[in-house]
Formats: sequence, structure tokens, C-alpha cells
Amino acid sequence: MDFSGFYKLPVEDRLKRLREAGRISGEDEKLLLDGDALKMDVADRMVENVVGRFHLPFSVVPGVVVNGKEYVVPMVIEEPSVVAACANGCKLARESGGFTADADEPIMIGEMQVVGVGKEAKEKVLEGKERIMEKAKEYAAGVERYGGGMRGLEVREIQTARGEMLILMFEVDVRDIMGANTVNTILEGAAPIVEEVSGGKVRLKILTNLAVKRKARARCVWKREVVGGEVVEGVLDGYEMAAHDIYRCATHNKGIMNGMDAVALATGNDWRAVEAGAHSYAAIGSYKPLTRYYADEGGNLVGEIEVPLAVGTVGGAININPVAQLGQKILGAEGAGELSMVMAAVGLAQNFAALRALGTTGIQAGHMKLHARNLAVIAGAHTPKEIDMVVRKMDESRVYTVENARKIFEGMR
Ligand code: MEV
Repeated sequence: MDFSGFYKLPVEDRLKRLREAGRISGEDEKLLLDGDALKMDVADRMVENVVGRFHLPFSVVPGVVVNGKEYVVPMVIEEPSVVAACANGCKLARESGGFTADADEPIMIGEMQVVGVGKEAKEKVLEGKERIMEKAKEYAAGVERYGGGMRGLEVREIQTARGEMLILMFEVDVRDIMGANTVNTILEGAAPIVEEVSGGKVRLKILTNLAVKRKARARCVWKREVVGGEVVEGVLDGYEMAAHDIYRCATHNKGIMNGMDAVALATGNDWRAVEAGAHSYAAIGSYKPLTRYYADEGGNLVGEIEVPLAVGTVGGAININPVAQLGQKILGAEGAGELSMVMAAVGLAQNFAALRALGTTGIQAGHMKLHARNLAVIAGAHTPKEIDMVVRKMDESRVYTVENARKIFEGMR
């Protein structure tokens, strides 16, 4: 599939290419173009107090190669440069052989807090584990139908300012859904029997976003002859800074989330859950980068990422929002595991691209170019020719303000 020069095409031609490549149908094209895909009555049923809909750009990054399969990755994001950077990191990855990736089984963990427990409560729960599991299974019937279900139950004790508490960790295989509703339903269903068995009182019953049993990993060896020696050195230096400086590490990980969140949004997933999982995972021990880089014997740059990714290909908002369904269709992952692998690869590509720019030329030149396009439009430029001319003159003056864009546009007229 040829996606060369994709970013330079007008929107209609990009859609045409996607259609010709069999990624979207004529109907899908209309849905994307008319901008009214999420109908008002549907929006009104999704959340409370609705008074309108909020639009964001829907982009794609073609040519993302993961485990030998080529994906067109949908991204929804408001920040300029993120899509371009991702495309750049993925292109250099493709030229280096692509990403390899793998994912854990889709096991989510639900926590149940038991307070007012006596000394033998933990033993009682362990003795009654079969009964608790049986009850939990009754509420897991929905996912059992798809091959998921209860997989385990662990018990932890914690000491708190309000005394000792038991924390029961319910492990549920949720297959291709994100799983929050399923897990929370199981927890609430099993609470009475836990009270009976433990003699304590059950309070919180909620899934944890620290989905340590549902991680995805991606890896790429960016070839030295493809990216250049200076880039290899720049990325390695940048990574070491993040590994030893928490201020940098926060921004390093934020850049990774730029990519993963954008895919989460475009596929109708809960990006706040993805955020919470990633940052809490990064903070185990002490807060550290989600990626890791080193040079192999040939001087090539090896990049790796490991991150919990609780995302689904069906269920929740995906079933309601037609644009999210289209995002899923364009990406074409066969199941949540595959989606999480692509997301991990995107996070790694995003991070590589940021480190590549930061460690060499800096990010402002590329960023301001995109920003300048926005300013040109705000100043009144409409046609691609007008926009390009305003951007070129702004680049020459290096003054990126609305006032300057207006002055240039007025001058052109
Ligand atoms: C900006 O949204 C993201 C970056 O700051 C990430 C990074 O510094 O690695 C460019």
C-alpha cells in the first residue's frame, strides 16, 4: 500500500486513498466528512446535562508496521505535531524493519476492601475462597460466554490509620472489552458472601487502573544507517536524563501518552484509565520512564516499552459512538490484545520521535510550522494557497503571533 506524501494531500484525497486501500467504505467517508456522525440524541444518552457536541480532529498515521502487519492508526488529538511526530517515528521504524510487540492475557484486577476485620479474617477468606469464587463466577457469565471469566483471587492485608483492612484482588479475564463494568459488577455481586465469610464489612468495590496483569510490550531496533549516529546518541542521552531526573521523566512519559491517548480516544477507549495505569506503573518503586533505550553491538538504537493497557475493541462507548467504531475499523485489530500492541508501538514511536528532535534540532521549528497554519486560518486565510503564503511569510519573519498573521494576510490582499 502506497501512503507516500499522504500528509501533503487535501482531506478529500486522503480519504480517497483510504477508500482505495479498502480501509473505509463510501459511507464511512461521508461519516467522516459531514462531521455530524455523533447525533445529538445519541450524545444526550451518553452522559448527563448534554447541551452540544465537541469536535476534535480525527487523523490517521498509515504505514505502522507491528509484527509484520501494516496498520493505519487513527488518532484524535488537539495538539499540533503529535501526529506528524508519530508518523515520523513509525516511518523510521518501518525502514528499520518495524516494531515487534506482545501482550499479556486480558486480566483485569478488581479490589474489594474489607474493614472491621478480626485477626483470623484472612485465613477465613482463604478457607472460603472456593465459595467466593463460585459466587463471583455467577456474575462473570457475560464474559464467560466469550471465553473469559474469573481467573483468581488474592488476599492482602494493609495497616492503615483506621486499622487493619483486607484487600481482596479479583482477577478477571475480560477478553476484548476494557472490562470496568464487568469487574465492578462481579465485585458488587460477591460482596455479601465476602462479608459472611470474613466477618468484616465490605466498603469499596472497584477495579484498579493499575492493570499490571494486562501489559503490552513493543520493541524496535532503529538502524544506525537509517536514523544516523547523531540521533542514536541524542536519544540515548535524552533517555538517560529521564531515567535520572524526575522533572524530565514526567515530560518524557507525557510524550508517550500523547500517542497512546490519541489512539485510545480515536478507538472509543477510556484514555484516563490508560493514563492512570501508565503513570502508576511508572511509579512502582520510583517514578521512571515507560520506555528504555540502549545501543546494540552494531551501534543501532534499541527502544522498548512496557505499559499496562486496559483497552477494548468492543463494549462501552465503542458500541455507541460511530466514529469510534470507524476508528476501530480503520485500525483493524483483531481483539484487545492486538490493539494494545499497536498502542504500545505508537507510544514508543512518539517517544523516539520526541527524543530524536529534542536531542538534535529541537522541536520548535516543526511545532511552529503547524502552529503557523492555525494562526493563518485565524487571521482569515481560507484556501491552501493563502494559508501556505501566510505560513511562509511568518516563517521568514519568525514571529508566530495572530497579529503578525493578520498583518501578513491583510498585506497580501
Ligand atoms: C509535548 O506534548 C511532548 C514532548 O514534550 C515530549 C517530550 O519532551 O519528550 C515533546
